[in-house]
Amino acid sequence: VRALEDIVGPRHVLTSAEDLAPYEVDWTGRFRGRASCVVRPGNTDEVAAVLAACREAGVAVVAQGGNTGLVGGGVPRGGEVVLSLRRLDSIGDVDLIARQVTAGAGVTIAAVEAAAARSGLHYAVDFGARDSATVGGSVATNAGGLHVMRYGGTREQLLGVEAVLGDGRRITRLDGLVKDNTGYHLSHLLCGSEGTLGVVTAARLRLVPRYDERTVALIGFASVVAAVDAATAWRRELEYLEAIELMLADGVELVCAAFDLAAPLATRWPVYVLVEAAAATDPSAALARAVEATVGVGDVAVAVDAGRRTSLWRYRDDHTLAINTLGPPHKLDVSLPLRHIAAFAEEVPHRVVSAAPVARTFLFGHLGDGNLHVNISGVAPDDESVDDVVLRFAVELGGSISAEHGIGIAKRQWLHLSRSPDEIDAMRSIKRALDPTGIMNPGVLL
Ligand code: MLT
Ligand code: ZN
Repeated sequence: VRALEDIVGPRHVLTSAEDLAPYEVDWTGRFRGRASCVVRPGNTDEVAAVLAACREAGVAVVAQGGNTGLVGGGVPRGGEVVLSLRRLDSIGDVDLIARQVTAGAGVTIAAVEAAAARSGLHYAVDFGARDSATVGGSVATNAGGLHVMRYGGTREQLLGVEAVLGDGRRITRLDGLVKDNTGYHLSHLLCGSEGTLGVVTAARLRLVPRYDERTVALIGFASVVAAVDAATAWRRELEYLEAIELMLADGVELVCAAFDLAAPLATRWPVYVLVEAAAATDPSAALARAVEATVGVGDVAVAVDAGRRTSLWRYRDDHTLAINTLGPPHKLDVSLPLRHIAAFAEEVPHRVVSAAPVARTFLFGHLGDGNLHVNISGVAPDDESVDDVVLRFAVELGGSISAEHGIGIAKRQWLHLSRSPDEIDAMRSIKRALDPTGIMNPGVLL
């Protein structure tokens, strides 16, 4: 602690139980552990010095941004130094020629979007935790979100990073060159490495054109099969789709009850799909034509103005908060081939109940990406029987155990279901090469 105080100043090393508490538990309340201290460096040199001091003392480090991760990868397990990157919150000028911006690790996703918007541009990554989640954390976890089907996830926006590796070497790739084919893409390697290789201190991000002509429709369906068929048709026919999101009746009703919202449609439907289109010219007519031509469409609510669009999105965005009101959930985030989504959605609640009879399963997610969020309430945080049945079922159907949240602590023991022994061994070799003393987030991912 004294060595860290010498680097960042005593004010930025937190040691009291009260100060440490918010850094020691994850957002869901499922993952918690004790930190030896929290250190808050103010620049990259201080990050490098903190890592050197921790290497010297043989103390492990957990990097933390907005602490909105969902797999326990950003909170301590016991005795680590929590390295909070939130003070690295400066954002550069938007480069209008290149359509890029450089943002410090502690800049929030909402702040990147605000800077892009001021320049008439848009940051393509967006998700419910936008006001707290940070650039560093989103790069370290390769965060997905609501618009992956159009723009890709964080890695697709990432031109380069500045980072300090576990062994002290530095990576500086902030020049923003779109084409630079000079060997291993170390920035993309760090993206999704979950804090196990080094600490991202800044990122050079691609921005995309800003489309203010936007339409959102919320549509009721009788079944998941009908919703998947509709999504397939729209993806074929509509050029400007930003999102196709799936919800089920019990999740929507939970959101309505938790936040005192009226039901989204006049009739209760078993399945709801939120679809958003955005373009330089009004996409409403094309979206309306596509929806009208779709078999199986029930009621439809449409929103064009910003306020009403946000109201419709709330039914989807607020699932996370509403589910948390029932206690810490088990959050499983699986990828599935689109052709198996309906079978999975139908069967998975039964499999969960057979593993844990009191469990309640909520399904929602990014239908356009084949990514379902399976949220299970009513199961003790350390009872992993439900995780086991859900993850095995996803893999049985040709899916992945994590679409966008990562592995963290939560899914580490099932990594072998999605990655071969050779792949895991290659990952371990990379880890040993870049973090030979093993101080970076030990126990996460590998
Ligand atoms: C979402 O899609 O809402 C996020 O992945 C967060 C969550 O799964 O709760
Ligand atoms: Zn998601």
